[in-house]
Amino acid sequence: MTATEDDCANSGPGEQPSNNGNLKVIRTESGFEEAIASESNGSSQVKSGANRLSYSDKTILAPMVRVGTLPMRLLALQFGADIVYTEELIDWKLLRSFRRVNDVLGTIDFVDETDGTIVFRTCSREREQVVLQMGTSDPQRALKAAKLVENDVAGIDINMGCPKEFSVKGGMGVALMADIEKAKNVLETLVSGLRCPVTCKVRVLPDVDRTVAVCQTLAMTGISAIGVHGRTRDERPQHSNRNHYIKAVANALSIPVIANGGSKEIESFEDIKKFKNETGCSSVMIARAAEWNVSIFRKEGRLPLDDVIKKYLVLSVDYDNNGSNTKYCVQNMLRELQETPRGKLFLEAQTLEQICAIWGLGDYCRARQLEFKAAGLLGRREICPQVLRQESNDSESPAKKLKLEGNCTSNIVTMKVAYLRSLFPSDNDLPKSRLLAWSRKQKLGMPSYKTIQEGKLFQSVLTLDGKQYTSSMWEKNKRWAEQGAALVCLCSVGQVDLSTLKADGSVL
Ligand SMILES: Cc1cc2nc3c(=O)[nH]c(=O)nc-3n(C[C@H](O)[C@H](O)[C@H](O)COP(=O)(O)O)c2cc1C
Repeated sequence: MTATEDDCANSGPGEQPSNNGNLKVIRTESGFEEAIASESNGSSQVKSGANRLSYSDKTILAPMVRVGTLPMRLLALQFGADIVYTEELIDWKLLRSFRRVNDVLGTIDFVDETDGTIVFRTCSREREQVVLQMGTSDPQRALKAAKLVENDVAGIDINMGCPKEFSVKGGMGVALMADIEKAKNVLETLVSGLRCPVTCKVRVLPDVDRTVAVCQTLAMTGISAIGVHGRTRDERPQHSNRNHYIKAVANALSIPVIANGGSKEIESFEDIKKFKNETGCSSVMIARAAEWNVSIFRKEGRLPLDDVIKKYLVLSVDYDNNGSNTKYCVQNMLRELQETPRGKLFLEAQTLEQICAIWGLGDYCRARQLEFKAAGLLGRREICPQVLRQESNDSESPAKKLKLEGNCTSNIVTMKVAYLRSLFPSDNDLPKSRLLAWSRKQKLGMPSYKTIQEGKLFQSVLTLDGKQYTSSMWEKNKRWAEQGAALVCLCSVGQVDLSTLKADGSVL
C-alpha cells in the first residue's frame, strides 16, 4: 500500500515579551537536544517580531495526512528542512481536544477528549519551525481552534487544496477556492486574531490568469505566504505539474510563494533547486519525495533507506508514536520493497516493538516503553474515561495527572491486556473462540459479556462459572473489549501464558 496524493485529512501579530524560562536540556537517543520549558504550562515563548517565521528561501516538508506526525517532522528538520507542516487537522477535531503537558516525553499533546488519542503532538525542538495546517470552512471556528495551538506553533496554514469528497462536502479544501469570499473571511479572521503568521495552500485553477487573480485576492488578506500546488482539483499525481502557473503567481505576488507539486522530478537536493528556479519561487514544499525518503532534505545527498527507517523508528519510540501510524509511514518508505522477505515480515508486524525488532531496535523500543511506563506516561494503554474527564477539566494541573489502573474492583480479575487483532489471523484463534471451546470442554457453560461504553471507549466484563474478568485497557470498540476480557480469562485459567502475552506485546 502506498499513500495517494490527496491534499487533505481522511476523516474525516502582535508582540509579547520574550520569556526564556528555565530550560532543561535532555539528550535523547534520536540525537536531539530537547530544551524543555520548565514553566508549568510548558508553553514556549510567544514569537516576537524578530523571530517570527519567515517563508523566504525555505525548503519545507509539505502537509501530509498521517505522514506529517512528530517523528517525521523531526527527522525532516534533522536532515535540513527549514519548515515542517503538520498533517491537515480539522478544526472541530482540535476543538474537541485538550492541551496536556507531557513531562515524560517532553512534548505538548493535544488529546481528543472522547477517546484519548493524540490529535497533535509537538515539542520544543520544532517550536519555531512547525506550521499547523488546518482544515476549516468557518472563520470563527478556525480562529477558536487556532487560538488553542497558537502558542505552541510557528504558524497556521489553511488547506484550500484538498479535493476529497469529505473536505469538499464540508466546505473545506478546494471548496474554499470556489467560495473566495469565505476563503478571504477565514484568512482575514485568522490574520487579525492570531499573533503567529497565517498562510494558505492552494491548487491551481484550469486558467492561469484566474489562478493569479485568486492568489492575488488571497494575498491581500495579510497572509505571510502562499503555497501553490501546480495541479488542478481534477488532476492526479501522474499529471504533470503546471510549473509555469506557479511561476506566473510568483511573478505577480509580493509575498513569498511556495512551489509545490514537483516530487516526480525530485530525486536529489539539486532537483529541489531546479524546481525552485523553474517555478521562480522563493521557497519549495516537498511531499511525496520526502514521504519516500525524507533525507531528500540533506544537502550532502540522500541516505540509504535503511538508515532513514532506523532513525525514523528511534524517533517514533522516543516520542511514543503509535504503532499503526509508524507502520503506515515505514510502508510508504518501503513501497516495492514490501515484496522482499523482510518487507513481508514487516507487513505482519503490528506493534511498534515488532516493527522496531525488524531493524534491530526491538530491545531499544521495549526498554524505552518500560521507562515511559515507570515515569507515568499516559499512553494509549492508560487511556480511560476517568483520566479523560479529569484532564479535560483541568489539563494544566500536574496534580490531576492520574496514574490509573483501570476501574477494577477487587472481585473482578483484572489485567491490562491490549487486544492486538493481527495476532489472531483466523477466527478459531480469537480469544473468545478459544475461551468458548475451552469452557465447553470443561462443562463450565457459556461465557457472557457485559460491555460499557463511555465516549468512544469500551470496556467489557466477562462472566464465567461465577467469576468475572476484565482488561483495564479501554478499547476502541465493543468487539475488541470483549476479546481483551477473554484474553484475561484465558490467562487467568492457565490457557495462555503471561510470558507469551508479554512477548507479543499484549502486556507491557
Ligand atoms: C500521503 C499524502 C498526504 C497528503 N496530505 C495532505 C494534507 O494533509 N494537506 C495538504 O494540503 N496536502 C496534502 N497532500 C498533498 C501534498 O501536500 C502535495 O500538495 C502533493 O503531494 C504534491 O506535492 P509533491 O509533488 O511534492 O508530492 C498529501 C499528499 C500525500 C502524498
